[in-house]
Amino acid sequence: MRILPIASGKGGVGKSLLAVNLSLALAQAGKQVVVADLDLGGSNVHLILGQTGVQKGIGTYLNSADMDFEEIVLDTDYKNLRFIPGDAEIPGTANLKTGQKQKLIKKIRGVSADFVILDLGAGSNYNIVDFFLTSGRGIVITSPTPTANLNAYLFLKNVIFRLIHSTFKKDSAAREHLNKIYAAGSGAQRIYVPRLIQTIKEIDPKSYALFREQIRNFHPWLVLNLLEDPKDNSKSLKLRRSCREYLDLEIEHLGIIYRDDLQDVALKSRLPIIIYKPNSVLSQAIYRIADKLIVEGEEESEEQNELNLTIETIDESFEEAEVEAEVDFETKMRYMEDLLNCGALTQGDLIETIKTQQYEISQLKKENIFFKAKLAKAINGGFAAY
Ligand SMILES: Nc1ncnc2c1ncn2[C@@H]1O[C@H](COP(=O)(O)OP(=O)(O)OP(=O)(O)O)[C@@H](O)[C@H]1O
Ligand SMILES: [Mg+2]
Repeated sequence: MRILPIASGKGGVGKSLLAVNLSLALAQAGKQVVVADLDLGGSNVHLILGQTGVQKGIGTYLNSADMDFEEIVLDTDYKNLRFIPGDAEIPGTANLKTGQKQKLIKKIRGVSADFVILDLGAGSNYNIVDFFLTSGRGIVITSPTPTANLNAYLFLKNVIFRLIHSTFKKDSAAREHLNKIYAAGSGAQRIYVPRLIQTIKEIDPKSYALFREQIRNFHPWLVLNLLEDPKDNSKSLKLRRSCREYLDLEIEHLGIIYRDDLQDVALKSRLPIIIYKPNSVLSQAIYRIADKLIVEGEEESEEQNELNLTIETIDESFEEAEVEAEVDFETKMRYMEDLLNCGALTQGDLIETIKTQQYEISQLKKENIFFKAKLAKAINGGFAAY
């Protein structure tokens, strides 16, 4: 059984959309799948799945002493797919106590399925990080905007710290060193991880070896969503570089997904996009991700659960994403042309689209001028802006 937690740092970048549609794609490929709504406090998987009348979920389970966990693993309208609803409107579930969280993780690990997909909440709080750490190969999804990327990076930084903290035993020299750093007032966000690891290696080789063992199989996947243009994929390279340089962490590219207006229509129809329009660019991108996960799982089991990940494999994954970004863009453009040719998209629609884009460009230009002026002022005032 493989657990696939989906996290992001920033909200609204497509975690739930990916969780639901990826679950369906894997289920259609014949895998037994369970999708769990762990965005406690902001559950919406039932809406995206189109499941009505959901009465119970994780919230009810945690609040009833004698409820069996299996009672909240519900069947869906789709073959091979089951669903664990979130809070079912029980307040307070967002702030799980440690014991509750551990109980939940244990139950999730015990679910019988090929894949258990966890839709997580936005942010980097302990619970989200711990759910993410239920697997060495969780998915971090981001969009090409600078804030989304920064949040994805900060999320991973929190994950690495959690891993460091849980690896170093109480009373070990490594833990003492970490405590000293904290006491000196540097918050976790300001610590330079490679130097910390180097120091631990020197002062406490045993803890260092433990940490190496933990991190060896920890390689999160990256999904870049909401692309508009093939160039947007360069943002994933930046994130990769930051993780490598500042966190000593290698992430692997799992795929790109363009923004697709059909998603809004699918939402309104209460159908997941891969059911509503399996041939759309968005659905195809999700099928591609599902295929990669299935193939990777087969390779891994051949290697007897040893992760066979080399820098070459990771490099290839980023090159592949580059090609996907080009190919999907062409498909998108061809689709627009087809719409135009068959009359579904009138010239008026096209003019409207171009006008909107021109408006957006002029807004961006204005913003740019504004930032430049601000920068010039800051520099003249004697401040280094960055
Ligand atoms: N590739 C895409 N094309 C079009 N719309 C998209 C795409 N990805 C996500 N969306 C839309 O963006 C919105 C946010 O997506 P979603 O709810 O999946 O994000 P999230 O990360 O789960 O958000 P939250 O942090 O609030 O849980 C939704 O309306 C969704 O339909
Ligand atoms: Mg969500």
